[in-house]
Amino acid sequence: MTTISVVYHSGTGHTRKMAEAVLAGAASVGGVETQMIAIEGKDIVEGRWQNDKIMEMLDQSDAIIFGSPTYMGCVSGQMKSFLDATSERYLSRAWVDKIASAFTVSAGLSGDKLNTLSTIAICMMQHGMIWVGLEQTPFNDKGINRLCFYLGAAGQALHEPLEEAPNDQDKETGRLLGIRVASLTKKLKA
Ligand SMILES: Cc1cc2nc3c(=O)[nH]c(=O)nc-3n(C[C@H](O)[C@H](O)[C@H](O)COP(=O)(O)O)c2cc1C
Repeated sequence: MTTISVVYHSGTGHTRKMAEAVLAGAASVGGVETQMIAIEGKDIVEGRWQNDKIMEMLDQSDAIIFGSPTYMGCVSGQMKSFLDATSERYLSRAWVDKIASAFTVSAGLSGDKLNTLSTIAICMMQHGMIWVGLEQTPFNDKGINRLCFYLGAAGQALHEPLEEAPNDQDKETGRLLGIRVASLTKKLKA
């Protein structure tokens, strides 16, 4: 069985909705089991995130898809604290050759989301993971990858109520990323 984890932080729920779409995509691939993991501020003490159970779940995953809102042009503080805590795994090389990918949600069309995706990608390259981006261009009539990011999936949520943002096009983009990650992870494991 191939195990895919979606690990995310969400302040007001928009990134969680993208996480659900990404997870649904991964779960739709046969022979794959998925787990959704929330990063929460309560696990941060004096700036350091710690949750051994979550780290063990990630150790057992074949692929990890990271999701963060874009806050001030970067990952949220909660996500950064979690990324810093993965340094133990960096030292032991525990995540080498696992698949990695990412998604983000922010208010602006761009909103400096690229820096959020890049921050996560650089961290996972330090881990020796294998990065999977989005392959779809925005040249379609379904709004897939309408925001035109390739490093990962991007969603927009301005002031819309939670039930309306990110919109169906962005969630579909996330779902397709989940499918791609799960399919490639399965191939790599075969
Ligand atoms: C502290 C903070 C900083 C933010 N910085 C940005 C930003 O740099 N660019 C942007 O487009 N939106 C920014 N936003 C808007 C959020 O990215 C947006 O509301 C997003 O949907 C939040 O996701 P969440 O509901 O998962 O927390 C910021 C919001 C907060 C609270």
